Amino acid sequence: MEDFDPAYIQPIEHRPILLIHEAEGIPIIDLSSITNNHLSNENDHSNNNNLTSLITEIGNACEKWGFFQVINHGVPLEKLEEIELIGRKFFALSKEEKRKVGRDEHNPMGYYDSEHTKNVRDWKQVFDFTARDPSIIPVYPGDLQPKELINRWPQSLPEFREVTREYAREVEKLGFKLLELIALSLGLAADRLNGYFKDHASFMRLNYYPACPAPELVLGVTRHKDAGALTILAEDDVGGLQVRRKSDGEWVSVRPNPGAFTINVGDIIQVWSNDRYESVEHRVMVNSEKERLSIPFFFYPAHYIMIKPLEEIVDDQNPPKYREYNWGVFFATKRKSNFKKLNVENLQISHFKII
Ligand code: OGA
Ligand code: NI
Repeated sequence: MEDFDPAYIQPIEHRPILLIHEAEGIPIIDLSSITNNHLSNENDHSNNNNLTSLITEIGNACEKWGFFQVINHGVPLEKLEEIELIGRKFFALSKEEKRKVGRDEHNPMGYYDSEHTKNVRDWKQVFDFTARDPSIIPVYPGDLQPKELINRWPQSLPEFREVTREYAREVEKLGFKLLELIALSLGLAADRLNGYFKDHASFMRLNYYPACPAPELVLGVTRHKDAGALTILAEDDVGGLQVRRKSDGEWVSVRPNPGAFTINVGDIIQVWSNDRYESVEHRVMVNSEKERLSIPFFFYPAHYIMIKPLEEIVDDQNPPKYREYNWGVFFATKRKSNFKKLNVENLQISHFKII
């Protein structure tokens, strides 16, 4: 491999040895019944059997797995192909060229790789950008004025910006549909959560996992949970994503399904639902022969939103399990400790748990 440096590879400590079963995969959900209409505009859901069974499927998937795949999702396949192609072109550029759009402490958007961040555990290269361009977020905790986040775009690929923007626009629509289905599955009005996303500060990532000469020693991404509301992931046909199965705690490989999206519930939905829908751990294995491209869309509410268990969900029998927290401050704190590789425990929603 071109940039291979043996010092960069180190054994993973405390890596759990768990069997990987192919047995039961995550649910695959067909969205064709809703792809062409907006749920909030429908007056009578009870007449719509398809919708009712879809809502049940979504609710079961969220409760049992925290992960599912969607097909017939309404995002045009050519938009997926275009972003995949431009992603491959970008990562094929020289490291020098890519580092010209490298992120830094002042602007977290752009390129970075695990060598650059001295991250010896994750074997990947990344390009981050906001779904809305520009987006307003507090960049660091303590910043009194939220800042505008400016995306960086590689000069040598003039079409990059437009391709990613069009893709983001389509996936955003899917994000709202999923949000509505999830709200309905929790017994809420379809548009109950939409307002939180009016000024959403979602961001997107191109993940490139080069083929790795020692795949048993590193991971593409170490185990983690996603902090946002929902993650909408596109990937090629290589595979590597593994999900912690709730029923028995084993790692299960997600079968790649190019053209479909893999969806997972993030920490915010866990808090909103008062732990009914849990944010599930996942990780990425690397491959000794094949490089892999994946494209997550992290659907985040506006930075000023306060997150807490929804009032309609809690009552005397089901008291709130979390204290309220501010999303923008939470995320900025997490990002800062991540950037600096601080040796402190990463900020988690468990810090807001009411014991
Ligand atoms: C992530 C992630 C999965 C993948 O970026 O948070 O979990 O398959 N990615 O790349
Ligand atoms: Ni993730």
